[in-house]
Amino acid sequence: MAVSLADVKPEFVERGLSQIGSSLQRDVDKGRLTTEGKGEIVGRIMPTTDLSQFQDVDFVVEAVTEDPGVKTNLLRAVAEIAGPSAIIASNTSSISITTLGAATGRADRFIGMHFMNPVPVMKLVEIIRGAATSDETYEATRSLAESLGKIPVEVNDAPGFIANRVLMPMINEAIFAVYEGVASPKAVDEIMKLGMNHPMGPLQLADFIGLDVCLAIMNVLYDGFNDSKYRPCPLLKKYVSAGWLGKKTGKGFYEY
Ligand code: 3HC
Repeated sequence: MAVSLADVKPEFVERGLSQIGSSLQRDVDKGRLTTEGKGEIVGRIMPTTDLSQFQDVDFVVEAVTEDPGVKTNLLRAVAEIAGPSAIIASNTSSISITTLGAATGRADRFIGMHFMNPVPVMKLVEIIRGAATSDETYEATRSLAESLGKIPVEVNDAPGFIANRVLMPMINEAIFAVYEGVASPKAVDEIMKLGMNHPMGPLQLADFIGLDVCLAIMNVLYDGFNDSKYRPCPLLKKYVSAGWLGKKTGKGFYEY
């Protein structure tokens, strides 16, 4: 399957390609992929900064920053370029699929395709049906996810879908526990790792996801349900204001 990979600047496209290259190299080093196999995969990717390359695609997966305005503008632009039968999916972690779909003018061929981090390792793809998503669109998306070796799970559109509606309040509560001085980040994480068999504690996971992304998702839950149980912890807001966004900035609940 040929794939077009677009970003706004050539250096971002290069960075994406280089990350794909290192991820595949890991498989080569472990004997799961040959060097030729790696070359073939990389050779199928057509990097670009020009969206007109999307004229003939069958399926688009948008994965830009978790900002409704940025996503809407890009999705509108892609919907104007891609052929009428193309399906457009958003890898949003919590923004309404119904709202984004309506903005594209092809809500029946619009769907959520939420990959989990780290994507090469995690089996789940949460597939979110917007109010107008057609059965054909759902089936094509399910089948694409399976062909990528993932396990698709279907949910309906609602704030945070399922993954983040369940995960983020746990992370937020862990932050409240630290904020209130109940325990240190390390203690909270050890309790959840050793007591609940979670592979990572909630605060380490928050640092990996990005604290700005965690805050954005809590705000989607808070605004979407108008329920105070989803209010983001003031400590989370403070860290984001300070630019302590977790692993990507070198500091969050831990130092990297
Ligand atoms: N890219 C590619 N492969 C990776 C990787 C990466 N970034 N990180 C780890 N791996 C691979 C390793 O190569 C290894 O593969 P192998 O067993 O075949 O050799 C395997 O994953 C396990 O890695 P490690 O032994 O080095 O490390 P761990 O056992 O600690 O596992 C982990 C790492 C899989 C990241 C584990 O800590 C984990 O499951 N953490 C929780 C992940 C999670 O909860 N993800 C969901 C986040 S929420 C989300 O994405 C939603 C969003 O909307 C916020």
